[in-house]
Amino acid sequence: MEKYYLSYSEIHKTLKKLAGQIKASGFEFDVIVAIGTGGFIPARILKTFLNKPILTVGITYYDSNNQPMEAPRKVQWIDEVEKRLTGKKILLVDEVDDSRVTLEYCLRELLSYNPEKIGVAVLHNKRKEKRGTLPEQVEHYFVGRELADRWICYPWDAEDIDLHESMV
Ligand code: G4P
Ligand code: MG
Repeated sequence: MEKYYLSYSEIHKTLKKLAGQIKASGFEFDVIVAIGTGGFIPARILKTFLNKPILTVGITYYDSNNQPMEAPRKVQWIDEVEKRLTGKKILLVDEVDDSRVTLEYCLRELLSYNPEKIGVAVLHNKRKEKRGTLPEQVEHYFVGRELADRWICYPWDAEDIDLHESMV
């Protein structure tokens, strides 16, 4: 199967464009919530353009053998979560909307704290049939770049970054 190899520079530019879309939409938010680990670097780059604080959550859907589990599970969650999220406007950030199962799980968990608003921004969306759904309370869904349903090789996963860059 063909794969996408993407560089830090290309990703940075996609995130700048994504930040522009978010600003142009008029969606205002208090805090970015990054879904780790894939969402950490995209969230940090978005912060350069959007300048909001970042909270992080760790969610994993794959076990140590890279097999999907029955459901996503929390690896790490937000301290004093009620104080930080209740009544707040949240932008949830992840690197890829693939099956949407992790996104849905995370959105439902966050919604249980009654934020005032929630929007989602993903660096990439894979065009495919989704198993998860975005809850109706989600007011905005922003995508940096739409891609076909192929495996995306992110630079932060590269063990040899020079080799990775040569594949871009
Ligand atoms: P979704 O809700 O965002 O669509 O995610 P889904 O549950 O389908 O699966 C998410 C997991 O699969 C995440 O990893 C995500 O990074 C990974 N993933 C899906 N497609 C790709 C891809 O094309 N390339 C890469 N590199 N990863 C992909 P995770 O193991 O749950 O957590 P983490 O790796 O973010 O720590
Ligand atoms: Mg991953």
